[in-house]
Formats: sequence, C-alpha cells, structure tokens
Amino acid sequence: MNNETLATIARRYACRDFTEKMPGVGELQAIAKAALAAPSGVNRQLWRVIIVRDKKLIGELEEEGMRVLSELPDKSAYERILSRGGKLFYNAPCMAVIPTGKASPEGAEYFDCGIIAQNIALAATSLGIDNVICGLSCVSFAGSRKDEFKARLGFPEGYDIGISVLLGYASKPGKPHELDQEKVSFIG
Ligand SMILES: Cc1cc2nc3c(=O)[nH]c(=O)nc-3n(C[C@H](O)[C@H](O)[C@H](O)COP(=O)(O)O)c2cc1C
Repeated sequence: MNNETLATIARRYACRDFTEKMPGVGELQAIAKAALAAPSGVNRQLWRVIIVRDKKLIGELEEEGMRVLSELPDKSAYERILSRGGKLFYNAPCMAVIPTGKASPEGAEYFDCGIIAQNIALAATSLGIDNVICGLSCVSFAGSRKDEFKARLGFPEGYDIGISVLLGYASKPGKPHELDQEKVSFIG
C-alpha cells in the first residue's frame, strides 16, 4: 500500500551534511504551519517554533554546544560528533528551534516536542528539504551562555529548549534506515 504521506515517511532520513542553500520563506512558513498542527497532550501547545536563519547565531550556538559537550565527563557524544566531522549542526543554514514550557506531569512536554519535531521533519521532507532532528541542540543552552541565547532567540519566560530540527539541502544524497520488521507483531 502506498500514498503520498506514506512515501514521505519512507523517504525521510537524518541528513548530516548540508549545503549553504537556504530553504525559501514560503517553504519555511509551510513547515512552521505544519509544526503548529502537531497534537499535544490536552492540547497544551506549550511549545514555540523559532525559525533561525542567522548563520552567525547558528555558528555561535554550535560553538557553545561543542564547548559544553567537550567538558562533559562522558565524552561519547563529543567524540561521535568529531567522528562525523566535528560539526554539531552539520553546516545547516536553518534551524527550527522548539522551546517548551514545563508540563504536568513533569517531563510530559518532551512527548509533545518529539511530535512537533516529526511534523517539521515530515513537512520538510515532503517539500524536498532535507533535515535532521537534533536533540543535541540542547547542549547549546546548557552552558554559561544559556540565558543570553534564550534572550536572543526570544524564548518566553520560563521556557527552555525542547528540541531542534536542522533544515536545508543535503550536499550528498542519504538514505533511510533499514526497517526491522521483527519489531512488529500482530495479536489477534
Ligand atoms: C529525539 C531525537 C533526537 C535526535 N538527535 C540527534 C542529534 O542530536 N544529532 C544527530 O545527528 N541526529 C539526531 N537524531 C537523528 C537520529 O540519530 C536518527 O533519526 C537515527 O539515527 C535514525 O536515522 P534516520 O533518521 O536516518 O532514519 C535524533 C533523532 C531523534 C528522534
């Protein structure tokens, strides 16, 4: 069985090498609209969608993130990024940053962040815009420049980083991961 939605889902993959080409404003507006259509627990919509197209700011977030990662006792994430070329944001020209407020029960907001991120990823893929969901973007907001970045990005009071999605165009084509049908079972 196939249709346009299933084909988009099947085509999406994590892009980790972007060109400098910026997605168009109309496309980014369509992606933002798709983000806002995401479901959230009790329709709390505790997120914001901040589309960052400022190369200098993305560079500063990346530099701070790498610094924070390098200082963590567990160096595995830092080393993984180094093995992928040392770029936390893979030269992406655009970043959809999703700050979130605090939900009750505690932590429930992160389900919502995951869902909005997937809406962004699938909407982007449907428009031919490559992307990768970037949980590690949180480290850019975990160091001494946290408050400065939150202010520059316009996070509402009491909001913290939830997740980000990097957007742009792949410098070389990638492919989706293999599907493991053994993880699926039917009962009845
Ligand atoms: C919640 C979440 C956080 C992620 N964070 C990162 C990240 O910080 N950096 C990265 O390169 N990929 C990140 N990814 C992408 C995953 O590594 C990727 O989806 C996974 O390896 C499967 O590959 P695929 O997306 O190509 O199918 C994240 C994915 C999810 C769902």
